[in-house]
Amino acid sequence: MEKEQLIELAKEAALRSYSPYSNFRVGAAVLCEGEHIATGANIENASYGLCLCAERAAISNAHAQGHTKIEAIALACIDADIQVSDHELMPCGSCRQWIKELAPKATIHIAGLEESFVIDQLLPMSFSLDSHKDT
Ligand code: THU
Repeated sequence: MEKEQLIELAKEAALRSYSPYSNFRVGAAVLCEGEHIATGANIENASYGLCLCAERAAISNAHAQGHTKIEAIALACIDADIQVSDHELMPCGSCRQWIKELAPKATIHIAGLEESFVIDQLLPMSFSLDSHKDT
């Protein structure tokens, strides 16, 4: 699976976003070992703090489908205003923490950016519990 294909799937997933409060649609596509793909979109709620990000929706879906070895993640913020800066394209802090624990080896592709990342670039010196061993 190529980077551009995974990004296309993330953009498609963003079309299924439920984001009536922010009008900011986000989609994510997760490539797992064995070429399995799970997708997710941001799902908002009138109680704003309950909004679910696309990356966490996609990672949850992969896990629920029994696919826990995540090789790559693509993120597409299709309503981002890229005239201003790249910041609206980037994963939020909570999703970075999720990726660190649940997809630590994943390559992270971001629609609109040439460069791809690994989580240690996006979340250096991150929190983890010593009692938890990475597999
Ligand atoms: N959002 C994501 O889905 N992923 C991110 O990494 C950044 C933010 C969503 C949450 C909310 O529904 C909307 O974008 C605006 O913050």
